Parts: sequence; C-alpha cells; structure tokens
Amino acid sequence: MSEKLWGGRFSQDTDTLVEKFNASIDVDKRLYASDICGSIAHLKMMAHEGIIPKDEADTLIAGLGRVKAGMDKGEIAFSDSLEDIHMHVEEALGKETGDLAKKLHTGRSRNDQVALDVRIYLKEETLTIIRMLTGFQRALVAMARKHMDVVMPGYTHMQRAQPVLFAHHLMAYYEMMGRDIQRFQDSLKRVDVMPLGAAALAGTTYPVNREYTRQVLGFGKVSENSIDSVSDRDFVMEFIAHASICMIHLSRLSEELILWSSSEFAFITISDAFTTGSSIMPQKKNPDVAELVRGKTGRVVGNLVAILTVMKSLPMAYNKDMQEDKEPLFDTVDTLKICIEVYTRMLPNIMVHRDRMKAACKQGFLNATDFADYLVGRGMAFRQAHSVAGKAVAVALSQGKELDDLSLEELRSFSDLINQDIYHFICLDQMIARRISYGGTGFDNVEKAVQRAEKELNS
Ligand code: ARG
Repeated sequence: MSEKLWGGRFSQDTDTLVEKFNASIDVDKRLYASDICGSIAHLKMMAHEGIIPKDEADTLIAGLGRVKAGMDKGEIAFSDSLEDIHMHVEEALGKETGDLAKKLHTGRSRNDQVALDVRIYLKEETLTIIRMLTGFQRALVAMARKHMDVVMPGYTHMQRAQPVLFAHHLMAYYEMMGRDIQRFQDSLKRVDVMPLGAAALAGTTYPVNREYTRQVLGFGKVSENSIDSVSDRDFVMEFIAHASICMIHLSRLSEELILWSSSEFAFITISDAFTTGSSIMPQKKNPDVAELVRGKTGRVVGNLVAILTVMKSLPMAYNKDMQEDKEPLFDTVDTLKICIEVYTRMLPNIMVHRDRMKAACKQGFLNATDFADYLVGRGMAFRQAHSVAGKAVAVALSQGKELDDLSLEELRSFSDLINQDIYHFICLDQMIARRISYGGTGFDNVEKAVQRAEKELNS
C-alpha cells in the first residue's frame, strides 16, 4: 500500500480515480515559492520559541532552499498521488533531510498553510497589478497629451451629442483605472493578514509565536480568530470582484476601439502589429485584441460567479470545496494581467484620424445645445430656447442641412434675438472653449487634468 502523509488510519489504497479527482497539484503548483517561504518562516518561529532545536530548523531551512531551487528549475516531478503543493514540498524535503522533514508540520495544518500561501501569492500579484494599471494610466495620459487639440463627437445613447476633446474622453478611462487601483489598494489591507497558527481550525497546543511569524513574513497583522482564519476567502472574492470591475472598464474601451476602427466610424487605425487578418477575406484587418479583451471579461466575471457560488452556504470552518478557489483566482490574475499589458502596448500603436473625428462633429446637430445657450445669453429662458433650437433643427433636417448652413435670415425667422455672431458662437472650437465648468471638456480644464495626471504619475 502506498504511504500517504495522512495515511495512518487508512487500510486501503485510495481509488485511482479519487486520487486524480482529489488532487489539486496541477493548479496549486504555482504556489510552491509561497509555500516554501511560509514553511521557512514557520521553522524560524519554532526554533525561536524552542518548539524544535535551532540546528534542526537550520537543516530543514537549508533543505527547503534546495527544494525551491529544484522546483525553480522544474526538476521535481509532480504527481496526483501527492495531492497538493504542500505535500509535494514536504515529500521533497524528506528526500533532502530524511526523517527530520517530518518535524516541519508541527503546530500547523494544511488549512492554515493554504490560506497563508494564497495570501502571500495574492499580495504580490495585487502589487504587480497596481503597478501595471499605473503603467496603463501612463499610456492613456501620453495618448491624451499627444492629441490635446483633437475634437470628437461625444455620445449619449450612442447618438452624437456634443463635441468633446478626444483627450477628455481618454482621461475618463484614466479616472476609471484610478478607481480600480484604489479598490486593489484597499483590498490589499485585507489580504495582508497572517493566518498561520490557526492550525486546523482551533489554534494549536504548541507555544507558537504568531507575531514573530508575521514579522518574518512581513504581514501587516495576524488574524484574530482561528476559525475565521481557515474559512475566510473574502479576500479572494474581493480580488476577483475588483478584477471584474476593472475588466468591465477594459471591455468598454474595447467596444469603443472596435467601433472606432470600423469603416463606419474610421476614427482610428490600430497598427498591423495589434490586428489580424481573415483567412478568407483578403481585405480584412480585424481588431482581435480589443475583441479578445472584451470576450475575456466574460471569463473573469464567470470566475467571480464561480467563487461566490463555491463559498455560498459553506459552514465553518475549512471545507474541501474551498480548494476550488484557486482556478478562478489564478485565471483571473493571468487574464487581467495580460489584458492590461496588451492594452498598454497597443495604445501608442493607434493612429488617430483627427479629420474624420472633426468631420463627424459637424454633422448631427452637435451645436444644438449651444444654439439654445446663445438665446439664453440674450435673455430667453432655457426651456423656451430649447424649443426654438428644436424647431430650427427640424427645419434644417428637412432641408438636409446643419444649423450653421442656414442663412442669417432663415435663423432670424426662429427668433429676432439671433445675429451674425451666432455662427461664431456655435462653431466647434467655441463650443469646446466655453465648457469651463470644473471637470468639463474646456481646453483649459483638460490641459489641467492632463497636467495633474502627469504629476501624479511622476510622483
Ligand atoms: N489542497 C487544499 C486546498 O487547496 C489544501 C488544504 C487541504 N486541507 C485538508 N485538510 N484537506 O484547499
């Protein structure tokens, strides 16, 4: 009968299908460095507290160093019969240090061990993602800076509404990414909690010094309740929730890039390096990157639903169900990272067609609000001005014209408050320049917003 690390009370081998079904090694092998790091801290603490002799701890720590080197090089084979990464590390340590390795698991359970490993892993990944999001913000701001004077139609209901600066539109994404960063920073506080010492669920009879372990590992605090320590996966749910929101932001950008690069819009051209062709239609140049980011959003939101559903109704404390937390978590980390990375590289490779954007601003009565504002400036109440402008739009529309194509005489037929200066008032540059409310698309506002962002990113 093959010997399992937990095999003492068993007299029958595990069914081979169950072995495969139960194993998580294919997924959790990526935690090996965190696992070893946690074990080293545990050994240091045990030596410090005299739970095991210092020389034995030193031998085990050196052995774990060799196990880590072996795993780094991919020299250690993984197998389903050893279930998970914790067993693999312990088994490999046994090969290095013989029976002494059996002391490693003193005062510890895989339940607090796995909680620790995931926290070590996620702390690092969250910091990486925050750095990457800042890089993406940098790309957005650089693109805004490069196109400060480009005007485009702003949309509501996907209908042309009012002209805005292209830079202003890009800075909306800068804001979204800023909130994503804040969310990750905030949840990091709850990842940064050290669960080791909770053992299986009740704490341990050994005189462990959890505060010492916390310091060795550089965690912000130790967890308060041993039951909660091994059953809490809030930090996983929270991370995937924040990642989902971030992906939803990226999917909105994707949608816009896809629309803008269509022949119907032709506002941008995405460089060849970030598009692909069709195997049948020779003329095609497809925005696959943007489409994939949009598609992968579904995957991440799916991961959120998966983890929430796994955790729903789980009784205290650890349950094996929770082994199912890692696939959605790892997939979310990988997906989010590649999406941010690919977009950060793609943005500078987008050509902006300012003339097309400008031309689009001149059709569709984007100056109708300003037409009404002109009348308000001459004493008319806004509601009345709105109605007059609406009538002017209807007449122009029936003649296939824009408001500024109508003659002064025609315009005056709607209101004798109208004079020659209306043409200047409703021209594109003036419309932008007058939107001076804080946070609006006025030239000065956008310049200041971009400057603020540049400063923020360089600090
Ligand atoms: N592979 C397990 C997981 O990912 C580790 C903890 C298992 N604990 C146990 N008592 N079976 O959750």
